[in-house]
Amino acid sequence: MEAIVIRRGETSPTVAERPRPDPGPGEVLVRTLRVGVDGTDREVIEGSHGGFPEGEDELVLGHEAVGVVESAEGTVFEEGDVVVPTVRRPPAEGPNEYFERGEPDMAPPDECVERGIDGAHGFMAEYFTSPAEYLVPVPDELAEWGFLVEPVSISEKAIEHASASRSAFDWNAETGLVLGNGSLGLLTLAMLESAGYDRTYCLGRRDRPDPTIDIIEELDGTYIDSRQTPVSEIPEAHEPMDFVYEATGYARHAFETIDALAPNGVGALLGVPEPWEFEIDGGRLHKEFVMNNKALVGSVNSNVSHFESAVETLADLPEWLFDDLVTGVHGLDDYEAAFADGDETTIKTAVQFSQI
Ligand code: NAP
Ligand code: BGC
Ligand code: ZN
Repeated sequence: MEAIVIRRGETSPTVAERPRPDPGPGEVLVRTLRVGVDGTDREVIEGSHGGFPEGEDELVLGHEAVGVVESAEGTVFEEGDVVVPTVRRPPAEGPNEYFERGEPDMAPPDECVERGIDGAHGFMAEYFTSPAEYLVPVPDELAEWGFLVEPVSISEKAIEHASASRSAFDWNAETGLVLGNGSLGLLTLAMLESAGYDRTYCLGRRDRPDPTIDIIEELDGTYIDSRQTPVSEIPEAHEPMDFVYEATGYARHAFETIDALAPNGVGALLGVPEPWEFEIDGGRLHKEFVMNNKALVGSVNSNVSHFESAVETLADLPEWLFDDLVTGVHGLDDYEAAFADGDETTIKTAVQFSQI
């Protein structure tokens, strides 16, 4: 079967011939429909994040997948079911307390592997296998957009953890700010809108006309250009934010979020930046944080419960959003286009492996 891989020492993906996997006990064979591409895939390809499976020199890419059960192998699934796989699997030495609790998303990086990202092959292949416990069913009518379940699940988790940090008092979030107009940021903006935030904002660094700004405004959000309004000045330029969701991977934003927050607000940090030293006024930020009961939560990955919530969330998002957000679905004969970077008309892409 054909798979899209990144090889050690190379900076762009290749199509490779690999054996079709055989499902082991408790595993399901899945025929891949589509696999999405996000900022993390670009980090894996350039070598700044993730790594190869132990002892191997190539990694099958892809962690945002949707497929159809080809062989259910006596599990709870039936042939023809549409499913989405979760990303984390136990490390070589076997399951640990996080997996045993059904919370692999809470495992530190050295206590898990991530399919298509770090230490385990991903889903960009004509077929993949997975233990049934890591597959989440998706209604047939969502199959086309099922590869968006994984990124939406990332925000389900981040929002759940941020809200939990505010659960000890009467917190009613009215204003929400998303930092970053990539695919994760735009999906999250849509989620905040559909969750009933009164006013939402999304930060980018683009000139108009730009398709991401069009989506922000279509969603009823306000576009903020970081070149004109730094994050820390957003409360004066617009208003203080009850919730901030950082999805730029721009490390200064983690600290500027503290200033963007309203008293009692919470920020969720999602970006995965490279080491970068810069100056901040730590004393002022520390005091601001304490005296205004602010919170910041870091959040990575997601578990089955977040995938299940994401399926419901996705079903409620408007169809036009998917049409505008997903700017390219490319076959294996044209897979390079799915990874092309730097073109501002491209927002979210996917590779199509088969049809339902
Ligand atoms: P992406 O497509 O690279 O999006 C990042 C966006 O942020 C881009 O649109 C970029 O604008 C914008 N941006 C970067 N720096 C900015 C600045 N200084 N001011 C304004 N806008 C800025 O990535 P993504 O797939 O949406 O993911 C977003 C981040 O979340 C990445 O760092 C990714 O690694 C991380 N992530 C984390 C998790 C997790 O589990 N924690 C899951 C998925 C993704 P331009 O396009 O104009 O450059
Ligand atoms: C993936 C997560 C993963 C994270 C860190 C994200 O792009 O969606 O599943 O945990 O990267 O590697
Ligand atoms: Zn991702």
